[in-house]
Amino acid sequence: MKILFATGNADKMREIREILGGSGIEAVSLKEAGVSLEVEENGATFEENAIIKAQACMELTGEIALADDSGLEVDAMDKEPGVHSARYMGRDTSYHIKNKSIIERLEGKTGEERSARFVCAIAAAFPDGRILTTRGTMEGQIGYEERGENGFGYDPIFYLPEYGCYSAELSPEKKNELSHRGKALRAMRDKLLAEWEKR
Ligand code: IMP
Repeated sequence: MKILFATGNADKMREIREILGGSGIEAVSLKEAGVSLEVEENGATFEENAIIKAQACMELTGEIALADDSGLEVDAMDKEPGVHSARYMGRDTSYHIKNKSIIERLEGKTGEERSARFVCAIAAAFPDGRILTTRGTMEGQIGYEERGENGFGYDPIFYLPEYGCYSAELSPEKKNELSHRGKALRAMRDKLLAEWEKR
């Protein structure tokens, strides 16, 4: 089964291929397919945004298309930045500044009051109109400082109490195993294979 993945991000494609390896599902990125797609991610949920992107990609190409949307939910901030994670404080603002701002906004809060999670929704859009979605989460807390050199975005302030370290301190392999995106991708792989078997 060949699927198009609506991303231009090479790191995401590598992760997707690692997870789909050996499953019989071959993922091709938009760039590799020579397709360019600009869609406004104006959905209110991660699922809505993933569906908007997957559907637009399917309509443009006529192929089964997958897309993801992800972000950080901070409970004490009413689950912000949420679907606005990339846009929080402006798209071009550095993550060092965004991360510092979140730590400041949680001043005075301790333990469970600092609870947060990374969320990833993946949608698959089929040419016959079927839509599948999956969601993966990684639970943790906002730390008191930035720590670690791996990962990206909000990883340096995301503390994993179970592992006693920050997300940016995880090896790439461990991050794939625990991450919201890894979980949502593995669930999507299983749903696609089940759909395939129904034919
Ligand atoms: P998108 O799903 O590519 O639109 O990414 C949304 C945004 O959420 C990213 O730009 C990051 O700010 C944040 N984000 C999503 N996943 C992660 C992660 O694994 N680590 C750190 N930040 C993340």
